[in-house]
Amino acid sequence: MNASDSSWLAEPAAVPAHVAVIMDGNGRWAKQRGLPRTFGHTSGARQVRAMVEHCQQCGIGYITIFAFSSENWKRPDDEVSSLMALFVLYLEKEVGAMSARGVRLKVVGDLTRFDARLQRLIRETEEKTAGNSGITLTVAANYGGRWDMLQAVRLWQAAHPGESVQALGEEDLAPFLSMAYAPDPDLLIRTGGESRVSNFLLWQIAYAEMFFTDVLWPDFSVKELAHALSWYASKDRRFGAVSERVAT
Ligand code: IPE
Ligand code: IPE
Ligand code: MG
Repeated sequence: MNASDSSWLAEPAAVPAHVAVIMDGNGRWAKQRGLPRTFGHTSGARQVRAMVEHCQQCGIGYITIFAFSSENWKRPDDEVSSLMALFVLYLEKEVGAMSARGVRLKVVGDLTRFDARLQRLIRETEEKTAGNSGITLTVAANYGGRWDMLQAVRLWQAAHPGESVQALGEEDLAPFLSMAYAPDPDLLIRTGGESRVSNFLLWQIAYAEMFFTDVLWPDFSVKELAHALSWYASKDRRFGAVSERVAT
């Protein structure tokens, strides 16, 4: 952006181009009902379709959901395996419905740690939906914001052999980040009552509006999403500058 160009200030922050969601609280939701944590994950996964549909109806171009963090391997083996199984099931079950609605699916994260079948399924689902232009649903799986930055530096270095990182600018690195195909999230929603980022899109959320709610993810309804979107629309996004109101 040109420093003297302030035309963007006049744009009302109405509909975010990109919404990112930390879907937290599945385990506590299940515990409250005396159920195993995996029931919470199954209920949580069911919510995703309605969220994507609502975002699409609102004209949001990108929704990114945090499904499994690079730190979630620390969980008990049976929980990790059931999360993997759920991911496989989700991809297999949803791909047809997603394609019919024009959803493009992308998966970001260090996929090398997943078994070969899951890696193949991810690739196939991405390929099958690659031509869709309705909304881009990105699933962050084995994703960590720190990992993302490091892998971007490594890719940049490989593309510029012999060049010093002294030459590396923010704009040079951006194309190597795993979500280079999307604008930075405008709105980050975290359910489940915690106000932390837990190593999600660290680089990309530099100027995101952060919406934290106590609602547990399996209870996060379209109504709650609509509330988050209207909260977002009321924000005065200054990006380090001064607001239009103050400036004029
Ligand atoms: C979020 O819910 C889902 C994943 C991290 C996979 P949690 O499983 O973290 O639920 P809580 O935070 O324990 O309630
Ligand atoms: C963040 O939730 C990761 C996902 C929602 C996938 P966590 O439950 O793992 O985060 P912490 O451990 O409470 O920070
Ligand atoms: Mg949690």
